[in-house]
Amino acid sequence: MILVTGGAGFIGSNFVLAWLSDSDEPVINLDKLTYAGNPDNLAPLRDDPRHVFIRGDIGDRGLVSRLLQQHRPRAVVHFAAESHVDRSIHGPADFIRTNIDGTFSLLEASRDYLGRLSAADRAAFRFLHVSTDEVYGTLGPNDPPFSESTAFAPNSPYAASKAASDHLVRAWHHTYGLPVLTGNCSNNYGPLQFPEKLIPLMIANALAGKPLPVYGDGRQVRDWLYIGDHCAALCRVLEAGTPGETYNIGGWNEKANIDVVFTLCALLEELHPAARPYRELITYVADRPGHDRRYAIDARKIERELGWRPAETFETGLRKTVQWYLNHPDWVAKVQSGAYRQWVETNYAQRAGSLQ
Ligand code: NAD
Ligand code: DAU
Repeated sequence: MILVTGGAGFIGSNFVLAWLSDSDEPVINLDKLTYAGNPDNLAPLRDDPRHVFIRGDIGDRGLVSRLLQQHRPRAVVHFAAESHVDRSIHGPADFIRTNIDGTFSLLEASRDYLGRLSAADRAAFRFLHVSTDEVYGTLGPNDPPFSESTAFAPNSPYAASKAASDHLVRAWHHTYGLPVLTGNCSNNYGPLQFPEKLIPLMIANALAGKPLPVYGDGRQVRDWLYIGDHCAALCRVLEAGTPGETYNIGGWNEKANIDVVFTLCALLEELHPAARPYRELITYVADRPGHDRRYAIDARKIERELGWRPAETFETGLRKTVQWYLNHPDWVAKVQSGAYRQWVETNYAQRAGSLQ
């Protein structure tokens, strides 16, 4: 079996659902259920004995050690993190606690566990760390995309905390021989993404007739990857990656934010027409402090060494995504709870001065 952390969040829950639809290998799912963790994401597994859900903190070393000893997984797949850049700007402490201290604790528990395994089990064990392209900082318009040898230059508290966790993972391999693998991935989108992130936020706001808040000039570029493709890449890295190596994962799909929003509006016009064109809701607001201008991933290494390439195009992936949100209004309504409304107030009210 495998131990997954953060498996009630966006990527983790998609990964667990895909894993158990493709194989019968059980999953222990350790998740603290922060605001971003949603047990509803795992509803299809409610009566499935292959899935064991444990509510807990990756920083609880005793709990993690007990889970490892009791279930004896052949791998740890580590998604758990605070993941939203804007939240890290408003309150970085949780990012330091979970992304750095939590990863440290998980590495130590895994190292201890590894030392107790037989030689054969030790040789097979893997620690897969799920990380981000944001560790590399920002690109100019003509810079080549980030490769695995690009120097780290994180710019936000979130990116810095993920970079620190990547360094810890690397050191635990180099110093202690922990068989680690790291994936540095670009922006994901798809079903089950919490509507604080650009694409689900824009869909939810558009359907509610609310403004579509575009930061700054909207010309920041992200490299978008459909969630199913990221999960497939991670499975491939787990299966065939070389311990100690990092793999950049991306969509070969750079888009300016404003173009993403225009495309979403056009898709909504087609799939769910409203009285007024959705694009009339677009509202330019104050920029994110320290906003990275461009991310782009050179994903040639994972293609060359592991044979992975994204299967979805932006057009097919975005269409599936919009359709999923249209089909799941109850999921959206439930996550937009009191706490969600408070976040929207915190993040967007102070930008109101620059509403155009
Ligand atoms: P998310 O915020 O949707 O989910 C994070 C999950 O981790 C939640 O279920 C939450 O409850 C859980 N969690 C948080 N703190 C925890 C703790 N201390 N102990 C146990 N569980 C805890 O995040 P996501 O978008 O699914 O991202 C998952 C991982 O992928 C993160 O490590 C993130 O840095 C990385 N990543 C995300 C993207 C993206 O576009 N979303 C891209 C590249 C990498
Ligand atoms: O690049 C990978 C990263 O992608 C992951 O590591 C992070 O966990 C994930 O949150 C994401 O970070 P971003 O900051 O790029 O994603 P976000 O969806 O928050 O924003 C995408 C772009 O859209 C960014 O340039 C900011 C802009 N934006 C975002 C929001 C929420 C807006 O213009 N308006 C908004 O309301």
